[in-house]
Amino acid sequence: MANSVTDRQLVLEAIEARKQSYSPYSNYMVGAALLTKDGKVYRGCNIESAAYSPTNCAERTAFFKAVSEGERQFEAIAVIGAHRDAKPEDYGYFYPCGVCRQVMMEFCNPKTFRILTAKSADDFTSFTLEEILPHGFGPEDLNY
Ligand code: THU
Repeated sequence: MANSVTDRQLVLEAIEARKQSYSPYSNYMVGAALLTKDGKVYRGCNIESAAYSPTNCAERTAFFKAVSEGERQFEAIAVIGAHRDAKPEDYGYFYPCGVCRQVMMEFCNPKTFRILTAKSADDFTSFTLEEILPHGFGPEDLNY
């Protein structure tokens, strides 16, 4: 089903998601908004831990929420990240970490799934998963 969520709206959802960031150790706040093929949006934030390594990135929070609700078809994800004290005008484009790119590879078509890397709702770039994870290893590779 075609969906009616614009890229700008998806970035606005990521900006809202970022407000829930639990990041008392790094103070780096990340928000993500994952759009399903039928137009539903799942928000995620980074969730840190005093033991550090259990930290979960915003993108994976969004994916795990969606997958655990039965979603399997995804269109795009918007991501935004900056230090807690950064001024919005100083934000840089935010790119997902390698682990999150690999999780995207599990569920998304690398040629069509898009990653919106945002500074703001009016300033973001768009990449396919293939562009940010060239020659990725995915479920189909296990058939060879
Ligand atoms: N982080 C994300 O949420 N997504 C990424 O793709 C990279 C990093 C989080 C993890 C940690 O809470 C903080 O940013 C600093 O690394």
